[in-house]
Amino acid sequence: MKDLSQKHIVLGLSGGIACYKAAELCRLLMKAGASVQVVMTEAATQFITPVTMQALSGQEVFVSQWDDRQANNMAHINLSRQASAIVVAPASADFMAKLIHGRADDLLSLMCLARPLESTPLLLAPAMNKEMWSHPATQRNVAQLTQDGAFVLGVAQGDQACGESGDGRMLEPMEIAQELSDFFVPKLLRGYRVLINAGPTFEPIDPVRGLTNLSSGKMGFALASAAKAAGAQVTLVSGPVHLQTPRGVQRIQVQTGLQMHQQVMQHVKEADIFIATAAVADWRVKAYSAHKLKKTPEHRAPQFEFEENPDILSEVAHGDKALKGDLFCVGFSAETHDLLKHASEKRVRKKVPLMVGNVGPLTFGLDDNELILIDDKGVKTLERDSKENLAHLLVADLAERVQSFFKGKKR
Ligand code: C5P
Repeated sequence: MKDLSQKHIVLGLSGGIACYKAAELCRLLMKAGASVQVVMTEAATQFITPVTMQALSGQEVFVSQWDDRQANNMAHINLSRQASAIVVAPASADFMAKLIHGRADDLLSLMCLARPLESTPLLLAPAMNKEMWSHPATQRNVAQLTQDGAFVLGVAQGDQACGESGDGRMLEPMEIAQELSDFFVPKLLRGYRVLINAGPTFEPIDPVRGLTNLSSGKMGFALASAAKAAGAQVTLVSGPVHLQTPRGVQRIQVQTGLQMHQQVMQHVKEADIFIATAAVADWRVKAYSAHKLKKTPEHRAPQFEFEENPDILSEVAHGDKALKGDLFCVGFSAETHDLLKHASEKRVRKKVPLMVGNVGPLTFGLDDNELILIDDKGVKTLERDSKENLAHLLVADLAERVQSFFKGKKR
């Protein structure tokens, strides 16, 4: 998630049991660097107290439109003018019904109506029983709110507080925070289809053993998330990693280098950009043993014969699509020494316009990294930062490159 420092979020709570999740959302937004002003409806105060929200946000909570704490007694104007966005979570069925009529008989709805449409976006995270959600009235209201310029986030499916199960649960706090953070990201890759491979591959030796490497997949997943936030349609071919799929990203799970090769070759047909962050194992054992290899009484270690895995990036970058200028390829190079020299040579050898270099032991498994970007003109450094922030910087850099690469070409 991109950090939210400099953002001032008005977090609105309308009445619903999901109010308890707004406490966690508030905490997450603050953790991401945002300042949070909480505004609650009377109904919301039945579910969670303003004291809780005040303690978490570190700011006085507003509930009533008659609150005289603001010098000019116009909280609805003052609060909405200062906001980078208003997020209503939970947005109840009743609250949304109110908004579509432009009603304003409580502070939160008054503030939503009084917000400048151009500069203060409104995001709504609906939460309600499945019948209420699927009711034509609610669906009509969602469509109307969208037409009126609000951003209605989706709902989750699952168990509901009422004991039923279905659509209508509020998204999890982390998902709402992610949606909000994505919302602020400039849509520099809108219209582009991005294929990314990430993580290590695992080359089995027998049913319990295999060859792999130390790649965590974090950089590739962060890139997938940042590209999606920038408006791209993203497909992520992932080796075995313990990472959550970024929201809105299509993930294809593989294990071996050959499987990764096959999936990349298939999906690259529908891609405009290919980013190879995966640490594909260079070799696989020639003869896989269907049974667990046993130690011998003579304690003789087994001898393995290896064969080379296909170089996926090289094959893609030397393929027709890339050569015709219909695909922009980016490689990653993890080295232990002479980073610039090795990464530059790889860029030429693999025929990619951009090679991103990093020092393996200074990135494997870590949450931060430092990158160098090498192209035919020279080198640019992205200083040590979180992988999330680096991914956003890289996506912004990439967007400029692909715009000139595809200039005049219909994708
Ligand atoms: O040759 P080396 O593994 O250092 O090159 C790194 C780049 O090549 C990465 O972008 C990696 O994803 C890609 N690669 C590949 N297939 C391989 C080996 C590396 O696509 N078999």
